[in-house]
Amino acid sequence: MSRPVYVFGAGALGSLLGALLSRAAPVELLARPDHAAAIRRQGGVRVSMTRPGIYPVQVRESVGTLPEAALVLMTVKAFDLESALQALAPRLDASHLVVVLQNGLGIRSLAERVLGRSVVRAVTFMAASQEAPGRVAFNAAGKTYLPANGEVLELWRRSDMPAVQVDDIETYVWRKLAINAVINPLSALLHVTNGELAPLQRVAERLVQELAEVARREGQSLEARETVAKVLSSMQQTSLNCSSMLQDVRAGRRTEIDWINGAIVRLAQKHALAVPAHTQLLDLVRFVERNVRSHARGSRVLS
Ligand code: PAF
Repeated sequence: MSRPVYVFGAGALGSLLGALLSRAAPVELLARPDHAAAIRRQGGVRVSMTRPGIYPVQVRESVGTLPEAALVLMTVKAFDLESALQALAPRLDASHLVVVLQNGLGIRSLAERVLGRSVVRAVTFMAASQEAPGRVAFNAAGKTYLPANGEVLELWRRSDMPAVQVDDIETYVWRKLAINAVINPLSALLHVTNGELAPLQRVAERLVQELAEVARREGQSLEARETVAKVLSSMQQTSLNCSSMLQDVRAGRRTEIDWINGAIVRLAQKHALAVPAHTQLLDLVRFVERNVRSHARGSRVLS
């Protein structure tokens, strides 16, 4: 019998993972009130595109008490992770297992520092977008990379989601960083789907070259040509997806730019390296983010 799954953060990705995992384990989602109400009304999360249907899950609107021995899947945005973990910490006991899935660097060390215990760092290429409260589009069945933890791997596989066990999860953290550092800011600035970025190969090459040098200084090997090929193939595999950053910009929400290109710029500074392409994307996305967010709050009138 599987552990119950508790999904902390029912945005697009959290809702999709919760829905799919409900085939193998009882699932509870922590969701915003409008999302929670829609899920209750329709009897589960409604998934469209790939594997459409209504997936029965329990839902709650505040953290509350965790189910005994739950697998806690942290799917909040990187910038909300620390406060989410602080809310979680007093509710955890030795029976719980915490899995962190955020985009960006330093996620596992942040989680382990706040919780004072080890967590499972996973990297996922599942792609989803939220269509409305209670509804998510399943845009691409990407692989999830997991360190040696048979239990989580087994759960993923029983839910029919592609999962790969890897020895060095950090390599996949850096690979995903490369993909996010190209696709997310470009799609958010240009308002295009991931697939529509394919002609921008030269821009991708420049960004990856800068990142590969930062990675090398951090003791990670990220072969530039191979990484560019992975970025281009990710654009193709998630071609219909609007990246999470584009979804955030469109919804007037904060983006993960500081955890992606911002993290690269900070590391470059530490090593006295210039990363002009990442710096420009960071400045541009911050600009858009500020303008869109202040516009959404009605504090700015555009003529
Ligand atoms: O953040 C995202 O949107 C996703 O990580 C990815 C893989 C770029 C797909 O859209």
